[in-house]
This record gives sequence, structure tokens and C-alpha cells, in this order.
Amino acid sequence: MNELDSLVESAQQLFAQAHTPADLENAKAQFLGKSGKMTELMKGMAQLSVEEKKSRGAAINVAKQAIEAALTARRKALADAELQAHLKAEVLDVTLPGRRRGSGGLHPVSITMERIEGIFGSMGFDVAEGPEIESDWFNFTALNTPEDHPARSMHDTFYVEGGTQHAPNLLRTHTSPMQVRHAVQHVKRYRNLIDAGQTMPEIRVIAPGRTYRVDSDATHSPMFHQCEGLWIGENVSFKDLKVVFTDFCKTFFEQDDLVLRFRPSFFPFTEPSAEIDIQFQSGPLAGRWLEVSGAGQVHPNVVRNMGLDPEKYIGFAFGMGPDRLTMLRYGVNDLRLFFDGDIRFLSQFQS
Ligand code: PHE
Repeated sequence: MNELDSLVESAQQLFAQAHTPADLENAKAQFLGKSGKMTELMKGMAQLSVEEKKSRGAAINVAKQAIEAALTARRKALADAELQAHLKAEVLDVTLPGRRRGSGGLHPVSITMERIEGIFGSMGFDVAEGPEIESDWFNFTALNTPEDHPARSMHDTFYVEGGTQHAPNLLRTHTSPMQVRHAVQHVKRYRNLIDAGQTMPEIRVIAPGRTYRVDSDATHSPMFHQCEGLWIGENVSFKDLKVVFTDFCKTFFEQDDLVLRFRPSFFPFTEPSAEIDIQFQSGPLAGRWLEVSGAGQVHPNVVRNMGLDPEKYIGFAFGMGPDRLTMLRYGVNDLRLFFDGDIRFLSQFQS
């Protein structure tokens, strides 16, 4: 192998070993640069005769072209490799199915709340919301609850730090504080009418929301929901409670043959008081009495705390459990499932 051939070969080898464009340009300089081997060979021709120059020059040129061709090929190979690496890093499989963003949905208890609001809304009830951190006054005292009532004990009620009788000091144990809270606002709005001996517009409101008790098992969660109902006017009776609540239950469960039972009970803030039970006539729960709400005629002391004359104004209140209504409607047997936040459970409720 002559000197030029081996030069070409060593150039090809060196180029092949260059794995970056910078390495390749360095390798190129060794052959084609100002003091590269090919350049030296050209310079070396100065002493040759004209004839020798011709043939030597032609041979050197062939070698030079071979080296340049090797260089160009290697440059292209490196550029291709770089492009391939780039494409691989950004691999995009256009045949994959699209990734959709889940559309989400309402929590089953929220669906129930919306149904409750819709049904009572159609019966002319307003919707009011109140604070979850409540005062002793609204939660107990204004509701005619005696100082030594067991519900006030630390076993049942979550107390928060600070607070006085009228300042927030507990997590409301029911939505009943909204009876007096809302009525006081209503009375304030119609103070002039009332003082002038005229009759104020009726109070007809529901108050849904979160409530808290020290309690936890399959049917009790420390946080649960209630929905209060209150209807106060000059002529609102227990009969109206029966009609309104029966209508509500039949509409809520979409069952016309649903049977209701008003079972005597006791609450400090109603007199008389009742527990309302329902009974399905068909389906898996048929024939069983299921408790859904406490209720009663608002106690005169509570009417007084609303700023109204109990000789003139009378009405009823109820407090039902939307969590329980949701369990009954969908056949869920453990209340805690609603609050575990497991999407596999929650995504099963769409309306
Ligand atoms: N607040 C009562 C409870 O939590 C329910 C109730 C509300 C009873 C209104 C009567 C009237 O059990």
C-alpha cells in the first residue's frame, strides 16, 4: 500500500472514531488543515520536476478528494445520528388513543343536597347557609337546651378554643342554630311592620350544611350533613309539616306509595316533637321503617328567641340527614364511603 493510500485509510479511521462534530473537525485539521498532512505533501512537491509534479499532484488530489469524501460522509452520518437521537428523545406515537381529562361529577351527597333544594324550592322555601363554627347561644341556649343537657357534654360536642356564650366556641352539632339565626335576620328586616302590629311575611327556609359530633361508626361520621327546615307564620300547623314532608319524601325517592310515620319523640326546641320514619313498599328495603328526620312544632321559647310573639307566630321545624337519604336512595350501607374520597366509589354516582 503506498503512502497516499495509507494516509487516506488513516484519515477514514480517524473520522470513524470521531463521535462528535468537534472531534471530526479536529481530525479533519490533521489532514486538510493549514499544517495538515495533505498540505505538507503539497508543499513537498516544490523540488519535483514538472513531469513529476503532474503525476504526483494528480495522485495527491485523488487522495485529497477521497479524504474530503470520507469527511463529508462522516459529517452526514454524525448529523443523522444526532437527528435520530433527537427524534427518539421526543418519541410521539400518533397511534396511541388520546388522553382525556376526566369530566368529574358531583359528590353523591351534593347531588342529594341539590335535589333537596330543588324540591323545597318548588314549595317556596328559601335556602340559607350559616357558620359551621357556632356559638353556644345559637347551638344550644337559644334552642331551649338546658345548661345540663347531655348534648352539651364534651362526649358529644367538639369545642374549639376561646369563645364565650355568644362568640363561636364549638362545631355546630346540628343545623338547628340556623332556625334562630335566620329568623332573627328575617325579623330585623320586617321590624317596622311587626312593630306597627302588622303581619310579617312567613319564614319558609331550609338550611343545608355540615355538622359535627364526636361519633364514628358505619352509620355515624364525625362530620356529617343535615338540612334544617323552618316554616313560621300565623297559622302553620303540624298538619302542614306532615303534608310538606310527605310530599318531599315522595318526590325525593320518586315513589308515590311511600309511607311515612311520625313517631313521638323529644327535642328541647320543639313541642310536640317527632321522629319521621319512612317505609318503601318495593325494592330491597321494602317493609322496614327507616328514620330520616327529627321534627316538631317550634317551642314557644325558641319563637321568643327569634324575636317573635309565640302567641301570634307558630310553625314547625325539621332536621333531616342528607347522608342517610343518599344511602337509602342508592343502597349504600356504609356512611364512611362518602367521606373516604375513593374515586372508584364516588364516580358511580352521576345523578
Ligand atoms: N336538630 C335535631 C337533631 O339534630 C333535629 C331536629 C330539627 C328536630 C328540627 C326537631 C326540629 O337531631
